[in-house]
Amino acid sequence: MTDPTDVDIHTADEAAWWRQAAVYQIYPRSFADADGDGIGDIPGILSRVDYLAELGIDAVWLSPFYPSALADGGYDVDDYRDVDPRLGTLADFDAMVAALHERGIKVIIDIVPNHSSNRHAWFQEALADGRGSAARERYIFRDGTGPDGSEPPTDWESVFGGPAWERVDDGQWYFHHFAVEQPDLNWSHPEVRADFLTTLRFWSDRGVDGFRIDVAHMLTKDLTEPLPSRAELEAIDSTTGQHPITDRDDVHEVYAEWRRVFNEYDPPRTAVAEAWVQTPERRARYASAEGLGQAFNFDLLEADFDAAAFRRLITVNLAQADATGSSTTWVLSNHDVTRHATRYGLPPLNGRHVKQGTEWVAAGGPEDQLDRERGRRRAHAATMLLLALPGSTYLYQGEELGLHEVADIPPAQRQDPAFFRGGEFDGLGRDGCRVPLPWTAEGSSFGFGSNGAHLPQPGWFAQYAVDVEAADPASTLSLYREALRLRRRLQTDEMLDWHDTGRADVLRFARPNGWQVISNFGTEPFPLGRDADAVVLATQPLRDGELPGEATAWLRL
Ligand code: GLC
Repeated sequence: MTDPTDVDIHTADEAAWWRQAAVYQIYPRSFADADGDGIGDIPGILSRVDYLAELGIDAVWLSPFYPSALADGGYDVDDYRDVDPRLGTLADFDAMVAALHERGIKVIIDIVPNHSSNRHAWFQEALADGRGSAARERYIFRDGTGPDGSEPPTDWESVFGGPAWERVDDGQWYFHHFAVEQPDLNWSHPEVRADFLTTLRFWSDRGVDGFRIDVAHMLTKDLTEPLPSRAELEAIDSTTGQHPITDRDDVHEVYAEWRRVFNEYDPPRTAVAEAWVQTPERRARYASAEGLGQAFNFDLLEADFDAAAFRRLITVNLAQADATGSSTTWVLSNHDVTRHATRYGLPPLNGRHVKQGTEWVAAGGPEDQLDRERGRRRAHAATMLLLALPGSTYLYQGEELGLHEVADIPPAQRQDPAFFRGGEFDGLGRDGCRVPLPWTAEGSSFGFGSNGAHLPQPGWFAQYAVDVEAADPASTLSLYREALRLRRRLQTDEMLDWHDTGRADVLRFARPNGWQVISNFGTEPFPLGRDADAVVLATQPLRDGELPGEATAWLRL
């Protein structure tokens, strides 16, 4: 349907592209494998740029592709200014950026500043130079406790389970909030700060449009002795900005410096913070125009499929974004959580181990309780609602195929450190959402590459393959393509008005440009009356002018 009053968001202010973008997250090692080593790579992404263009996204976000031992899926970075040789070269990276830009797709890359890997040149130097050396100052080294220093400095636990301190050969200990292979950097050190500015310029000069900042809330720390015990640490209020290790106010000094670098470019480079903080107010600080500019809002990802919860969280986050001048972000899936088609097919809160507050949603779930069809229905309904909200939406590779979590990966083939150490991602860890994509129903590794895949793909992947779904107008892929095409006309302003539907389980909102969205979270059909004629997209066919249960419709009135 064409309407002269519709405006394509791409003709709007170029520098504001990120405010209402549909961003597609690529987990490079599992996207497409061009050289047949079982690991996805940059040439693989290059070979699929037409797919990305046809999907209709505005930007891609690439999870880390840097040299890494993969102790934490690449979030253990050996060198921030290079490409893992298994994934390609800097020249491949440049070619990929050029090809994406040619198709009007922006590129966001992941920056991992809280920790390097233990193979990073700085950490190797810190080990070699020993106790008291200048090189150790770039990390967080401490002497141990106990008569001979053989006990860790504190009893703190790492996010992935086990102690947060590791002992080195000369008896000192270093702090690692995540895996042992991810020593935390010392953000009070001027060289650490300066080096990340170099990294941001390095990639900005290569044409990168924006950055996703890994655990943005953790960089700065106050580790003045005596250090609190774990119990004391957990009891400290983390909303004051003064917590010893998380969401400290002084972290924003770092981002103010980064903002000055972003603004050296035209258009300014953008950034989005991954900040698992306690409240929308605390999150807003990361999203300020003097800081990173935007922050992930994981509220809907953590919510059940429930109309009241959605409405409340949408309202709070839009108000927050409005108050700070940022735009909000919507996310249902990423590489750290159980795919939302699966979450929505499981009984509420059962099998997905939702934890509260700043913590994580773990992957996996009891297969025998999974209703795949229901999960798919609800995932379609929720995603189409998200895509029509003001703000940007982050989509995770494979969700456009309606992929489910792969729960039954044998332990010997799992890779996630969280699975092996049993930390906050309890249950099955995160491998189940990182299984390489199926591109074709037939052939080696479902078209992912010519020689197998680094995580095992189940037989049922065939029915979700891109070639199968592309040929089926009722597939998830066809739905995403149509929605993303229409979305460019729907996203013209950042306003939303709620309309009463007379039903607690049905939400309806209007955008001022005439688009309306109705989401039926219940199972009873919802009569649309005369508005049935205005429906331009529906996640399930209307029946006798009624929107079926667990469905969303977009209307152009
Ligand atoms: C982020 C990433 C996650 C990683 C962790 C440590 O939360 O999303 O995958 O394990 O940071 O870098």
